[in-house]
Amino acid sequence: MLHGKKSEERIALEVKEVINPVFGGRDLLRPAPKFKLPREEMPPRNAYQLVHDELMLDGHSRLNLATFVTTWIETEAQQLMSETFDKNMIDKDEYPQTAELEMRCVNIIADLFHAKSDENENACGCSTIGSSEAAMLCGMAMKWNWRKKRAKQGKDTSKPNFVTGSDVQVCWEKFGVYWDIELRHAPMKKENGYRVDMKDLVELCDENTIGVLGILGTTYTGEYQDIEKLDRLMAEYNARTGYDIPIHVDAASGGFIAPFLDPDLAWDFRLEGVKSINVSGHKFGLVAPGVGWALWKDWSCLPEELIFHVNYLGGDMPTFAINFSRPGAQVILQYYNFVRLGFEGYRKIHTANLNVVNHLKRLVEDSELGEMVLDEIKMPLLSFKLKDDKHLGFTVYDISDKLRRYGWQVPAYTLARGCEDVSILRIVAKEGFSYDLASLLVQHVFEVMEELKAEHPNRVKPSTAPKIC
Ligand SMILES: Cc1ncc(COP(=O)(O)O)c(C=O)c1O
Repeated sequence: MLHGKKSEERIALEVKEVINPVFGGRDLLRPAPKFKLPREEMPPRNAYQLVHDELMLDGHSRLNLATFVTTWIETEAQQLMSETFDKNMIDKDEYPQTAELEMRCVNIIADLFHAKSDENENACGCSTIGSSEAAMLCGMAMKWNWRKKRAKQGKDTSKPNFVTGSDVQVCWEKFGVYWDIELRHAPMKKENGYRVDMKDLVELCDENTIGVLGILGTTYTGEYQDIEKLDRLMAEYNARTGYDIPIHVDAASGGFIAPFLDPDLAWDFRLEGVKSINVSGHKFGLVAPGVGWALWKDWSCLPEELIFHVNYLGGDMPTFAINFSRPGAQVILQYYNFVRLGFEGYRKIHTANLNVVNHLKRLVEDSELGEMVLDEIKMPLLSFKLKDDKHLGFTVYDISDKLRRYGWQVPAYTLARGCEDVSILRIVAKEGFSYDLASLLVQHVFEVMEELKAEHPNRVKPSTAPKIC
């Protein structure tokens, strides 16, 4: 009940706020709250305008060529997403059909990755919030399996290590820190074409190694590591030492590319030593941010102790996840993509992006200043460096910086340990990065280069413009 003069004044004020033009009312005539919760409400249209307008300062996601993560989805996918924003993935008893779609996705991905399939049994895997969570889950399974085996043999279990290349994504560094596991890195080598030598990984293993990492699509260059070779070397090593060290494949990006563009490449559960794989649904699985997948070769690879059973949602709910609540919409969208695109749809989209990247690659190769980092492109990703930035007077960082002016976000960074003196630019071509947009990018790169050359006239020879077709 509202009584008294003060309440009347307040009601009058509120009525006025509804009538006021958005930019004429008091809500937008004062700074937005930054440190304290405001005392009072504001009309939704004002709050919307305030937040919406601040976000105009973000870069445009479609011009974000840094990210591997999806920046364009179909209208129908957007519609499904807004229809399912309220579904919590953990409420499997309440949303049994969402849980069913999750399981179908696990089975479909396991089949794409050649897990042992039994039509009568679900594949071993689960959805996650992204590849980082999937990496933690698969890493934990490796640690638990190793510890159990060591404890049975009466051996020390206090010094687990995990072997990776130095070009590992930061989620594995986190895994090491959070779960108290030493990370051993083999260096990236220039003489090996800016790659980690699989032999060096094997040399870092010992009795305390819980697993070895192969990467299908490194974050640095998009390289597909030679996982078949790693599998062969590890099989020899395990036979020689009597250890049983598993391979985990971080296929965050490549896991949704290789099955469509390189179906004969054996990198997955076809290889005996590969026991688990993580993949990001929100990268080349083409779902908006918020979904990843963890897969195991079969149920024997996942320790039962890591699966928790809860009954407070009704029914017996087995869960293997770090978070409890999690959006269900992205899992639903993953299933939508599988139904909508099928094998051919994924193949067409990735082929189109790869064609765009190959077009850009030819332009880099034809130019006098640029040089590709890898000799082979497997993913729709271009990583290139300047031929001689020591003497040019400008660097890839200057190019990246100047491209921002047009709205393009093209990251420049140093390569991994072993090649950290090399700086490169990376362009990830995702669904929505059309041939037309790529041509505009090329035009802008050229303009930027001309500008930089003019700023450093004594360092570089004048050149002719690349053909933009
Ligand atoms: C090879 C690799 N692993 C893991 C990740 C982390 O994936 P997410 O962003 O899905 O957690 C990335 C992200 O770029 C990656 O490139």
